[in-house]
Amino acid sequence: MEFNEWIDIGYLIAAALFIFGLKKLGHPRTAPRGNQLGALGMLVAVITTILDMELADDPANWTLIIAGLVIGSLIGYWMAAKVEMTGMPELVALFNGFGGAASALVALSESWRYIEGANLPSGLELTVTVVAAGLSALVGWMTLTGSLLAMFKLKGGIEVFGKWIKTPTWGPRWLNVVKVVLMITAFGLIYYNIDNPTDQNVIFALIAISSILGILLVLPIGGADMPVVVSLLNSLSGIAAAFTGFIIGNSVLIVAGSLVGASGLILTFIMCKAMNRTLPDVLFKSFGGGGEKASLTRTKVGSDADEVAMMLDGAQKVIIVPGYGMAVSQCQHQVKEFADLISEKYDTEVSYAIHPVAGRMPGHMNVLLAEANVPYEQLIEMDEINSEFPDCDVAIVIGANDTTNPAARTGEGPLAGMPIIDADQARTVVIIKRSLSVGYAGVDNDLFYMDKTMMMFGDGKKMMTALNNAVKES
Ligand code: TAP
Repeated sequence: MEFNEWIDIGYLIAAALFIFGLKKLGHPRTAPRGNQLGALGMLVAVITTILDMELADDPANWTLIIAGLVIGSLIGYWMAAKVEMTGMPELVALFNGFGGAASALVALSESWRYIEGANLPSGLELTVTVVAAGLSALVGWMTLTGSLLAMFKLKGGIEVFGKWIKTPTWGPRWLNVVKVVLMITAFGLIYYNIDNPTDQNVIFALIAISSILGILLVLPIGGADMPVVVSLLNSLSGIAAAFTGFIIGNSVLIVAGSLVGASGLILTFIMCKAMNRTLPDVLFKSFGGGGEKASLTRTKVGSDADEVAMMLDGAQKVIIVPGYGMAVSQCQHQVKEFADLISEKYDTEVSYAIHPVAGRMPGHMNVLLAEANVPYEQLIEMDEINSEFPDCDVAIVIGANDTTNPAARTGEGPLAGMPIIDADQARTVVIIKRSLSVGYAGVDNDLFYMDKTMMMFGDGKKMMTALNNAVKES
């Protein structure tokens, strides 16, 4: 067999490992193996590409490759080791941006080779290379700036010289016209570039327009719609990588980029469905509101652990509704202990209601509860569990707010139309959070003030520990 054919087989194995890895990511139980398969696929792809370069007239520059590997691995390890669980969504947004930037830089270096006098391909090959480089630059720079802004939106703001500056949410209707004009101009520049592939000004103009587009795309989106934009940016980083694969003629990059692009797009549509929106609605209607938080005027007397434990005695059906506050307080182990305690002591049936956008990243609650060894069968998706709330004795809401807010049913405000967990339909509702303050979308929550609601004010872990002790002693 020719050496070239071994290279093709290497790429085929890498692509197959990506696909099997992705398949295994579909279930929490098999997801760790899926991750390992994906990483192995990437290792095979890197080794095959280096061998391919050695074989071609373009031998690998080992100093650069090893320096890149060491620096990249150290930065990746440092970030992964340092990040708190609550910082994961920002890290994911940043990594999306890095993915886009990597593709955009490859496109730029390829265009620059021609400007510096490298032999231009001709005919169809030239058209494909120039169009792929243009699209990779457009999507790549857009993904970089959009992801950086999304990261600061998830963070809530940025600290500059000790002063906290809130990330703005701004999107008047006329901004849509600007976005469309910029997009048409970008396509016009790519078309012009086919006949003028060495014109630097076109490349700089494309970088500027794409970067502005990324910011304008994310700027109007706020509140509860952020999950949609984060998964869309993830998809765009894959699409940029696929275009880059066409530029440098690397088939595994085309496959891997397409897989990320397609799976990110599927996730985007799942998120849209969860928010009861369409993608054009999110991108052009600016649902998220101005990011202002509602001012709170009402008060509510808090309950203590003993009162709640007393009320739980005799409860036949309890549904736990976790939210972002559970991730902040890292109380998933105490939550699992609580579920075990009441099912043993009172023979209570316990399940968990999982809202698709609870927390700050897709699957956030599933990951945390899986870490605490909560059986997967007890995690029930919102659509399935909502009909069970009228028969539920106690709904225990732990650090969830927007995802339980009945304001979403009114059709007004940043949460308008978002399906929620029907915790308000339970006979009694217990809410554990530190105050009456609003959630991510900034909307006051009527659920806190209902007569059947008991508020346990305090940090999730502290309150759950107190509740577990009270149940043990009752
Ligand atoms: P949120 O509406 O964000 O509310 C979380 C609540 O947790 C807060 O009101 C906060 O109240 C409480 N909390 C914070 N720290 C706590 C602690 N240490 N102990 C106990 N409680 C604590 O949560 P949610 O219901 O999960 O909704 C998620 C929101 O984030 C949605 O609007 C969603 O669209 C958005 N979002 C989601 C994603 C994804 S992909 N899931 C991505 C971006 C944005 P106190 O301050 O009073 O304690």
